[in-house]
Amino acid sequence: MIHHMERIRTLLEHPYYRSCLQEIEQLEHDRIYCRHGLSHLLDVARIAALLAADRKASYPRDVIYAAALLHDLGRLKQYTTGQPHAEAGIAMAQDILQDTAFTPQEQAEILEAIGGHQTGAAPDSLTQLLYEADEASRMCFACPAAETCYWPEERRNHTVLL
Ligand SMILES: [Fe+2]
Ligand SMILES: [Fe+2]
Repeated sequence: MIHHMERIRTLLEHPYYRSCLQEIEQLEHDRIYCRHGLSHLLDVARIAALLAADRKASYPRDVIYAAALLHDLGRLKQYTTGQPHAEAGIAMAQDILQDTAFTPQEQAEILEAIGGHQTGAAPDSLTQLLYEADEASRMCFACPAAETCYWPEERRNHTVLL
């Protein structure tokens, strides 16, 4: 257990992770749509862990948390270069993961989930958990910017019950 807490702590305290989050927060300061800061990332982590437990998916909890905490880093690159954020986030997440104690196979799974988090994948894959948790985390039912949001109707979340 301590080992698992350590792996997440290394990620959370990683200087590059911290600076990416800080820059995203600054760039999204006036954004009227969903933001991609730590509260979103943690919402997704917790919801994905719930979904995984419901489905008896066997991912270690900290692998699920790592994928969620890293899944939107690419926003930073998207805002500055226009590259889609799921794709842009892979290399950024890799720079951080390589300094953690996640195994090479876990790192590969996490990176794959980040790259696919906007399209989904096979049921119970880490990618699909992330995709669904990302959707479920959003409060589209109470969003003042819903009218002009780019999210298609079928991805919008209208419930709070999981
Ligand atoms: Fe995203
Ligand atoms: Fe997200």
